[in-house]
Amino acid sequence: MSLKLTFKSFFFRFLEILPNKQGEQVYHKVQELFSKENLDFKIRSSHNTFRTFQDITREQGIEIKDRVVIEIGSGWLPLMPYFFRYMGKAEKVETFDLNRHYQRENIEKLNEAFSGEYEVEINKVKESAYSLPEAIKYYPNSNILDQKLTNCDLVFSRFVLEHLRPETIKSMHLKFKKELKPGAHIVHLISPGDHRAYLDKELSLQDFLKYSRREWQKKQTRFDYHNRLRLPEYLEIFNNLDLKIVHLTYEVPDRNSEYYRKFEALNLHPDFTDFTDEELMAGAINIILKV
Ligand SMILES: C[S@@+](CC[C@H](N)C(=O)[O-])C[C@H]1O[C@@H](n2cnc3c(N)ncnc32)[C@H](O)[C@@H]1O
Repeated sequence: MSLKLTFKSFFFRFLEILPNKQGEQVYHKVQELFSKENLDFKIRSSHNTFRTFQDITREQGIEIKDRVVIEIGSGWLPLMPYFFRYMGKAEKVETFDLNRHYQRENIEKLNEAFSGEYEVEINKVKESAYSLPEAIKYYPNSNILDQKLTNCDLVFSRFVLEHLRPETIKSMHLKFKKELKPGAHIVHLISPGDHRAYLDKELSLQDFLKYSRREWQKKQTRFDYHNRLRLPEYLEIFNNLDLKIVHLTYEVPDRNSEYYRKFEALNLHPDFTDFTDEELMAGAINIILKV
């Protein structure tokens, strides 16, 4: 195991033994410390996400101009909300997160960098605790499951679904089906690979599929929970709720690639042997659902 991954696993185990609130605080501080490095990189990579969003929504004739967008999982910075507002011309973006990670100081830096890079004027509301513009509303410590969604035209999430329990994904989509306007869309960008492989280059992106449910449960903590759902399992959830899948794309590594070789070397747990290689390896899933 790489040193980085060993440290991260050890750190999350340590956080788990702290009382909930302290665990969250230490997690927040350390993430903050390690995520300071590259605002430009974050802006560029979110711009790429926005381009993907534009490509897949354009194909379906979906417009966010003058519309209300809801983001599930705000994370650390309002990057996708800024692209939705300033490039997509959304009327309003409401972003919800179970935690409170936004910080005024970081958003001020983002405002400067974003307005410089894209020549847009960001008029932050004077009394905004986070230096956010009027059109972007941040709801920290808020579960999307508890929100009213009746005014929303499009729901968006990036790198969120893979961290939710399957039952939560079901309840969330049942709620979307009941509360969103007919014809509203839900766009999910899902990263179903083993995130430990980003820190340990020796690991396959499917490494976690060699463990039983119980073994995997023991390996992870609430800070790095990953549901290991495979593509057909996501599709089954949406199909069972009669949500229309209007777009689906995903990446599968080339047969001659190093990724594939690492995957083939794995001894898969029987829970996963009924899937095809493509179903097991499907990564970077982009999906659009219509209510
Ligand atoms: C891995 S982060 C991704 C953040 C951001 N979307 C990004 O792309 O960087 C997932 C976020 O989703 C949030 N989240 C998970 N379940 C949620 C829920 N039910 N309601 C609101 N936010 C949720 C988590 O608190 C976490 O901040």
